[in-house]
Amino acid sequence: MTTARPPDQCSLVIFGATGDLTHRLLVPALYNLAVAGLLPQPFALIGVARSELSSEAFRTDLEKSLPKFAKRQIDADVAKKVLARVVYVQGEPDDPSTYDKIGRELAAIERDRGGQGNRLFYLATPPAGFAPIGCHLGESGLARQGNGVWRRIIIEKPFGTDLASARALNKKLLAVLDEDQIFRIDHYLGKETVQNIMVLRFANGLFEPIWNRDHIDHVQITVAEALTVGRRGNYYDAIGALRDMVPSHLLQLLSLVAMEPPSRFAADSVRAEKAQLLDAVQLQDRDEALRNSVRAQYGDGYIDNHAIEAYRKTADVDPNTTTETYVALKLTIDNWRWARVPFYLRTGKALRGKLTEVAIKFKQAPIAMFRDTPIDHLAENFLVLGIQPNECIGLEFNAKVPGPSISIGGVGMTFKYQDYFDVAPSTGYETLLYDCMIGDAILYPRADGIEAGWRVVQPFIDAWHDAGARGLATYRAGSEGPAEADQLLAADGRHWRPIA
Ligand code: BG6
Repeated sequence: MTTARPPDQCSLVIFGATGDLTHRLLVPALYNLAVAGLLPQPFALIGVARSELSSEAFRTDLEKSLPKFAKRQIDADVAKKVLARVVYVQGEPDDPSTYDKIGRELAAIERDRGGQGNRLFYLATPPAGFAPIGCHLGESGLARQGNGVWRRIIIEKPFGTDLASARALNKKLLAVLDEDQIFRIDHYLGKETVQNIMVLRFANGLFEPIWNRDHIDHVQITVAEALTVGRRGNYYDAIGALRDMVPSHLLQLLSLVAMEPPSRFAADSVRAEKAQLLDAVQLQDRDEALRNSVRAQYGDGYIDNHAIEAYRKTADVDPNTTTETYVALKLTIDNWRWARVPFYLRTGKALRGKLTEVAIKFKQAPIAMFRDTPIDHLAENFLVLGIQPNECIGLEFNAKVPGPSISIGGVGMTFKYQDYFDVAPSTGYETLLYDCMIGDAILYPRADGIEAGWRVVQPFIDAWHDAGARGLATYRAGSEGPAEADQLLAADGRHWRPIA
């Protein structure tokens, strides 16, 4: 972002503006962009939500919450640039008069700044709002672009709850908007280390020649959280770990790690390769899906010495629920690069610690050469892309322990981002917002990519639905997950890396 320029003037309209996302992430991200000189100037923000609120009160709320969530000292002049023009519109998402009101406010803003009509609509509402809002924006003409003016829409996740609903949502939106206006956000793609996967793979001559089934034994993708479901029982119990995390975050990581090199570092090439990769993931029949997956719920336990209550005791969660808070999957990719290389994915709540990493395990060296020495095993060769909590890249390999006899020890080299680069405070939304404002969709999945993700998880959704409570495992809160997940890898002679 160092050589980047501020985007053209635009107005940002946030639907669901009184919610957490606006206060916690979007406004702090706009502030960080302003600090970096990358906020369009002048800037206008229109908040839309159901509650009765004056523009003045909305603005005061934002002013108050900014220092709380910005994770840095607030400079009053910069904050003024972000909140220079704040308008609040009260309205229901399916009431056409809401869009008339928004239209009047936008027209006034655009008149004052001399007719520049670029507009970014951010749908930060619950998912039920996506289709009606998208359709009203299209039909009302508010999102009509042309004559050098752009109109774009960012849609939060989850984009659908299965393959059929994701397809239906795409169809509705594409009936009134062009694909290049729709930005389906996945906040994992805003994380620096996630973006760096492409640079690591394709800007180094070192890795690509060995990035295939001849050299790689398997890949583990872990997104472990220590957080419990907390106050999100209502949302979470209807969704579960698989739908909440896998088609979006975990499959984004998978596709970046496994896709073929795109011909150019440009949105269409990258998105096409990612979608093709997901298309090559082998679809499993019901028996295979049950055999190659583990789902579980957390029970009572302790995290950091705090007692945690079982998922089933969470507020707004059905006490007999079969919704999973943990999932582990074994996937295979049916192409020349990856045939017979398993990809193991796991994610869960209330685990021992927070850890997001992609670990690439290289094939074992033959031990034969050391047969007349006391060495009976070698450490495993892992390349680890650490995403959270530490942004790093680590290599684990064998080295000789100094001394007269042959003895081998596992050692590691780790590159930490903070040791090399000045990392400015970030919410993870800065690059995503900036890219959308300049019209670069490289970090936003296209309709085909979203549907390809749901196609991968649909067999698991169906198999679990039919199985009901049968096969649902449990794990202690604060543990590394259920024993069944260990068995999934043990059956292949492998084991998970530790979580904390
Ligand atoms: C969200 C999920 O998309 O990602 C949450 O809905 C989850 O359930 C969160 O906690 C994890 O994000 P991060 O950035 O903390 O890994």
